[in-house]
Amino acid sequence: MLGLLRPLLAACLLLQLLPASWCRMPEYNNGFYYHDVSNGNGNGEIYFNGVRLHVESPQPSVSATRGSSVTLPCHFHYEPELSAPRRTRVKWSWLPAHAAAAAPAAPPVAAAFTMETEVMVAMGNRHRSYGSFRGRVRLRRSAPGDMSLVINELRLNDTGRYRCEVIDGLEDESITVELELRGVVFPYFSDKGRYQFNFLEAQRACQDQDAALATFEQLFTAWDEGLDWCNAGWLADGTVQYPITAPRDGCGGSDLAPGLRSYGPRHRLLHRFDAFCFSASVKGTVYFLQNPSKLNFTEAVQACARASSRVAKVGQLYAAWRLTGLDRCDAGWLADGSVRYPITKARANCGPPEPGVRSFGFPPQHQKFGVFCYR
Ligand SMILES: *[C@@H]1O[C@H](CO)[C@@H](O)[C@H](O)[C@H]1NC(C)=O
Ligand SMILES: *[C@@H]1O[C@H](CO)[C@@H](O)[C@H](O)[C@H]1NC(C)=O
Repeated sequence: MLGLLRPLLAACLLLQLLPASWCRMPEYNNGFYYHDVSNGNGNGEIYFNGVRLHVESPQPSVSATRGSSVTLPCHFHYEPELSAPRRTRVKWSWLPAHAAAAAPAAPPVAAAFTMETEVMVAMGNRHRSYGSFRGRVRLRRSAPGDMSLVINELRLNDTGRYRCEVIDGLEDESITVELELRGVVFPYFSDKGRYQFNFLEAQRACQDQDAALATFEQLFTAWDEGLDWCNAGWLADGTVQYPITAPRDGCGGSDLAPGLRSYGPRHRLLHRFDAFCFSASVKGTVYFLQNPSKLNFTEAVQACARASSRVAKVGQLYAAWRLTGLDRCDAGWLADGSVRYPITKARANCGPPEPGVRSFGFPPQHQKFGVFCYR
């Protein structure tokens, strides 16, 4: 822009070819020197010397729970301070977590920017929100310069990197804030067996369990917290990976360091694997139905319905185990026809010595177990 305006100013001053309103002479304002180039509608841009725009965020990353409201902080101010208000534009954009992970390790800046989608644009008191954020976002504006973004009813797939860009004429400064959701990653496979899902089916399978395909960051965090799983699954970025904390043969080899083993991006339609799903807190309650405690699958569905509930989904059971400490040493049916039970305090006769959700896979539906309901 500077390159555009300088010749324009020069044209005004030297040739006087442009309408007078385009060519106001430099003014003094608050002791600072302005060149005011306006186009008569008052929509012009002002640029100035000696004043600098600062954009800051006290929190480079924010963690929140699903369904809640979150504030991504962003403030701007001028140095030295201005007395007259200025026409400042703010743009919030978003690089979804799955897109961020799909980018090369060190993406060229331009590439990272082009994958961002707009969340909100605001100027003065007017604003507009876009896409899945329409009607769910606003600026906090608790003080002058507060451009913090408030997102309501957080969804599983809202995670990623948000950019707050403040635009004032020629000045353009931005900061980024990472948004994470508190939740839990779980491996998931089909009732038809291992390695049955292509990418789209894996996406749907997670959604059916009240979850979403996990992002690389979510799986990495789960690995860091001890997840070890020797079956490869889809992630939200279309790569296939699995987390290994205890290296061994058959799981990438015993001489390889612990970490995520990656097959890289796979063909989304032709290649088949399991899935890593991410689930976060649910509004309702997951509970083990006390009576009756021995049911086939059909009876289990009816029993939950009689209790004004539904059979719990796998993502709901994991979230209840991880986020609310659900612990029950009785196997119960879940909505997908699998049988599992959640243990937060490992003990004798309740599976391995670590906490976890134990699985019996998908038993024949005439067999009798308890049931986990969701209300
Ligand atoms: C995000 O999740 C919502 C439901 O929670 C869904 O409607 C939307 O399509 C999802 N968006 C993407 C990009 O997956
Ligand atoms: C479960 O038991 C009921 C009888 O209580 C029976 O009608 C139903 O067919 C059984 N369902 C399955 C899947 O075996």
